[in-house]
Amino acid sequence: MKKPTLLWIILVLWSAGTSFAQTTTITALPSEQAPEISRHIYGHFAEHLGRCIYGGFYVGEDSKIPNTAGVRMDVVEALRALKIPNLRWPGGCFADTYHWKDGIGPKSERPSILNIWWGNVREDNSFGTHEFLNMCELLGTEPYLSANVGSGTPQEMADWIKYTNHPAGSSPMPELREKNGRKEPWKVKFWGIGNEAWGCGGNMTPEYYSDVYRRFATFTTDWRNSDGLVRIASGASSSDYNWTEVLMKNIPKNLIEAIALHHYSVIDWEDKGPATGFSEKQYFTTMQRALQMEELVTRHVAIMDKYDPGKRVALFVDEWGGWYDVEPGTNPGFLFQQNTMRDAMIAGVTLNIFNNHADRVKMANLAQAVNVLQAVVLTDEEKMLLTPTYHVMKMYTVHHDATLIPTAFVSPQYIYDNQVLPAVSVSASRNAAGEVHVSLVNIDSQLAHKVEIDLSAYGLTRMSGEILAAESLQAHNTFEASETVVVAPYRDITFNQGKVTLSLPPFSVLVLKGSN
Ligand code: AHR
Repeated sequence: MKKPTLLWIILVLWSAGTSFAQTTTITALPSEQAPEISRHIYGHFAEHLGRCIYGGFYVGEDSKIPNTAGVRMDVVEALRALKIPNLRWPGGCFADTYHWKDGIGPKSERPSILNIWWGNVREDNSFGTHEFLNMCELLGTEPYLSANVGSGTPQEMADWIKYTNHPAGSSPMPELREKNGRKEPWKVKFWGIGNEAWGCGGNMTPEYYSDVYRRFATFTTDWRNSDGLVRIASGASSSDYNWTEVLMKNIPKNLIEAIALHHYSVIDWEDKGPATGFSEKQYFTTMQRALQMEELVTRHVAIMDKYDPGKRVALFVDEWGGWYDVEPGTNPGFLFQQNTMRDAMIAGVTLNIFNNHADRVKMANLAQAVNVLQAVVLTDEEKMLLTPTYHVMKMYTVHHDATLIPTAFVSPQYIYDNQVLPAVSVSASRNAAGEVHVSLVNIDSQLAHKVEIDLSAYGLTRMSGEILAAESLQAHNTFEASETVVVAPYRDITFNQGKVTLSLPPFSVLVLKGSN
């Protein structure tokens, strides 16, 4: 065995000291220039994939599961409680195979297609534009439509915009809408122009896609974009910085309002590991991937800053989350996975990163809402459960549209097998009522970490907290035991002259509320 060097001994002693004894001091920085945290950072995603739409959101009007126009009400109630700000649909990869006109009119006359990306199952188009947009009204959320660029045409996209947005009687598309039972337009603001154009959306180069994008975007609206559409370019996969560079360089700023980014916390695409029975090594690697979001956002934003210093074009991280092997015995094409405290950690740190970059990150969409990947809700026939990720999303609703309070601190370390990650992650905000919220995550699998936060500048007189914690990292909710992981009040807080001191238990998410 190699003899430990003096430096190594000092490092170990220092990090142990940090972990056990030291208090991490979190400083709230001056916030006059701080951005608003758009509620759209807390967006969701629903694709025609596995049991997300069919069985998850939509059970049909004849189902014995309580529903409104076929949409299951237990799921609607759960998502309403999350105040979901937007919902992206119909894909994902599915979007570039989807021809929206197949999904309107009498259901008995709608053609079927083959869902080539997700299990080669028959898609009967019974859930189409009306069903989705009416469901968004029921959910109280803004729709984000992802248009078909890979196998579609600019005309098809332009028609879809007229169909959903133009006033009654103004042209043939709104007339068709009215014939199909809807007089008033839904006024859809968010339009994705293709999805993963570098892969399932057409295997394009960034140079080729930026030309295709320009062509599609030209026919979405008039040259001033007087409809106020938000047109979203299909963005990079994780660290493909060249993709962002080429798009920002080639697409004129009057044709683009946002550029996307997709990043999944996946251990290895060839060996993703189980969703529940994972090892600490797999947990550590997943957290490495999740925390990589900080570097990805920083570097993609730096490229955007070069071409758009005024920050006109937003960054939308419109697919993110953990991706593991499917649950044993389920269709590999359906991407159905359980959701544990590991997922709560991914959600907590990722949302903190987005909050802290709220000057450029204006939307994000967790993949996906129901029964697919890092879902907030799982269903089994008439049963439904809320996942640990759901609880984090709910705790973080306090940040919606609040003003960011920037923070500074040096995180204690989470050490595994001589590798190090920052254990603690933080974001903070102040809402219109003057309340201050701080969301803290400790990803350390073993150690609690003590933190002190100085909020004395905010004149707060009361402090309360709630926590999501569990006995093991693998803890999760099942249809038989749906309350294994739940949120609880956290009272072990010292609050003195605007300074909060507390100990963050291992793998926990804690949200503090300071008020007058
Ligand atoms: O979310 C599942 C898939 O992941 C989406 O369809 C695609 O865009 C991404 O590769």
